[in-house]
Amino acid sequence: MKKVYVETYGCQMNEHDSERMLAILSGRGYLRTDRPEDAGVVIVNTCSVRGKAEQKAYSSIGRYVELKKRRPGMRIVFSGCVAQQEGEAILSRFEGIDVVLGPSRVHMIDELLDTAGLAGSSVAVEPYGGQDRFRSPVKNFGGVKAYVTIMEGCDHFCTYCTVPYLRGREVSRRAREIIDEVEALVGSGVREVTLLGQNVTSYRDASEGRDMTLYYLLSLLNDIRGLERIRFITSHPKDLDERLIAAFADFGKVCRHMHLPVQSGSDRVLRLMARGYTTQAYMNSLGKLRKAVPDIAVTSDFIVGFPSETEDDHRDTVLFVKNAGYDNIFSFKYSDRPLARASKLEDKVQPDVIARRLRDLQSVQLGLTRYIYASLVGTTQRVLVEGNSKRQGRMQGRTSQGRIVNFEGVADKGAVADIVIGDYSDNALYGRCMNREGRDVH
Ligand code: 5AD
Ligand code: SF4
Repeated sequence: MKKVYVETYGCQMNEHDSERMLAILSGRGYLRTDRPEDAGVVIVNTCSVRGKAEQKAYSSIGRYVELKKRRPGMRIVFSGCVAQQEGEAILSRFEGIDVVLGPSRVHMIDELLDTAGLAGSSVAVEPYGGQDRFRSPVKNFGGVKAYVTIMEGCDHFCTYCTVPYLRGREVSRRAREIIDEVEALVGSGVREVTLLGQNVTSYRDASEGRDMTLYYLLSLLNDIRGLERIRFITSHPKDLDERLIAAFADFGKVCRHMHLPVQSGSDRVLRLMARGYTTQAYMNSLGKLRKAVPDIAVTSDFIVGFPSETEDDHRDTVLFVKNAGYDNIFSFKYSDRPLARASKLEDKVQPDVIARRLRDLQSVQLGLTRYIYASLVGTTQRVLVEGNSKRQGRMQGRTSQGRIVNFEGVADKGAVADIVIGDYSDNALYGRCMNREGRDVH
């Protein structure tokens, strides 16, 4: 039996690219394995957003190149953003890589493996703008949730970020193709889709003579029978206008969660980052969103220790977090990316200072998360059941807000269950299923 092993770093976009490669190769008779030593094809799908992720890619590939020496038939695919960044150069650093695959060429993995077999290594990192770069064979390996790419790339050039150089400029996928894919997924048992893109709020499809925005796309997806929930990530704060806010009220399937990365709570730092908004503008939009959708959960990203960040800037960020009322935040130590402009800035912040500020920020947010979770004890939450939880005898699902709920009682995978919340931890809610016999409530 032909086997494929995949190792993935980075964002949901990369996770989905790995799923797409697996689905394509399963069409060629490959079965997934979690043991690289059994695999005929090993894929390392890399991320370049921070230096640490990039280093992990190199140490993995080093391991597999060694493994290949003992298993000469094995083929190695180096894909993702580090592959895009390094291109052919990676071949002279590591001998034994068969395919170097950029993110816009994921859909070609099978052809590239074929030609690599014939003619040494294949390098495919030329940015590819065609619509089939989004193509994904619909193969549901039993899940309730699925990702669907709606756009890729970024036109913003925030000064810390390497993404526009590696994933390229924004390209939107045609609405028709998105709808077809979602319908096929629903036909295969999927109940929730997450629309993916670096800037989903810039989504635009003008191909059928209409200017189709994310709002319009959501309106079409909302009508798909059998689809229960729609999520989308990532949104850019500058795009959070009244029309987009209205989508939460207008379309019942759009989940009450928005990931809206702010990156810093200091206007001086935001200017240096070239984010294109002020803290005041962000807070105004957030206020409108919360007024229109009171039960919305908002999450955010922060970069701590951007070059020249002072204690005052840091205090502004902590204060910002206290005021924003986020459900949760993802905070990262600033990492120099050679392609990004901020790497040229002087006045880098010392690693120990960055570490302290990060701890500081995370502990403030943890208090706020606990506060929000504590306020949910005693409420009944509608949860889309995803399957068994890690602990025996419990099941797991998520609320519309994206909060994880572990619960006791029996419910069908894919059903919506009413759970009375009795307790919480730092990252999940706990409760008991209240549906009669825990069966599907539709
Ligand atoms: N250093 C640290 N974090 C970064 N991010 C993007 N670029 C960098 C960098 N150079 C973070 C941002 C972004 C998330 C995906 O990764 O917070 O929202
Ligand atoms: Fe990077 Fe900024 Fe684009 Fe996000 S919006 S991908 S942070 S350049």
